[in-house]
Amino acid sequence: MSVHKEVKKVTTHVLLEMKHHGEKISMLTAYDYTMAKIVDHAGIDVILVGDSASNVMAGHETTLPITLDQMIYHASSVVRAVDRALIVVDLPFGSYQGNSKEALNSAIRIMKESGAHAVKLEGGSEVKESIERILTAGIPVMGHLGLTPQSIYKFGTYSVRAKEEDEAKCLIEDAKILEKVGCFALVLEKIPAKLAENVAKELTIPVIGIGAGGGVDGQVLVFHDMVGLTHEFSPRFLRRYLSLYDDIKSAVGQYIKDVKSRDFPNANEQY
Ligand code: KIV
Repeated sequence: MSVHKEVKKVTTHVLLEMKHHGEKISMLTAYDYTMAKIVDHAGIDVILVGDSASNVMAGHETTLPITLDQMIYHASSVVRAVDRALIVVDLPFGSYQGNSKEALNSAIRIMKESGAHAVKLEGGSEVKESIERILTAGIPVMGHLGLTPQSIYKFGTYSVRAKEEDEAKCLIEDAKILEKVGCFALVLEKIPAKLAENVAKELTIPVIGIGAGGGVDGQVLVFHDMVGLTHEFSPRFLRRYLSLYDDIKSAVGQYIKDVKSRDFPNANEQY
């Protein structure tokens, strides 16, 4: 039986069921109404309004500059488009690290002002108290471990995390803490496939990977990367399904030619 095909609305409970049935979870980012509509109609299980919007929508070098107000703007555009997928929104850098009350207030703003279904935040034991407080308000929380882009200035590079035993051990402990505290799912980013598989086996909650191999319970990619709208970013884990950068560039080139040559508009394209 496919859990995915049966449901009209994906909930956190549906994701748990999918894990228990061994059915992989599909997740993609979306940041605007038009793209979210396409992604939802295609049947995606989870839409992440990721703080990667800071990079792909706003052109920042890192995810750090995006604000809570901007995340709420993106999330509410996505919510207006989506009928079926579970919508998870990233708590942006600086909106939850201060203390658990700040974290709760930020999560409440996202849920109340955008209409999304859950929040995601980065980190392990250091954000445990904040997660507990957010959960007291009935807001589902997704964790995120491994390469956590909001800590890029601590890491120094975007290279694979937890290759060394010490860091791998810490990651496993953090994953167990996140499950115990009540996260409904966990994202693992850019860590060795074997480690990610072991974490997915140890946990009862779904583990969704990006650059974490095929042994986890689901996969997430940044939409703009998988359709080739971005073309300078080519990590090994990325599979591109389209080359939209090239296609759009050539369509725009053709339009410019048609305008300059007076080919557009023709007699049928005017009143
Ligand atoms: O912001 C984002 O797009 C993410 C994914 C990479 C998991 O957090």
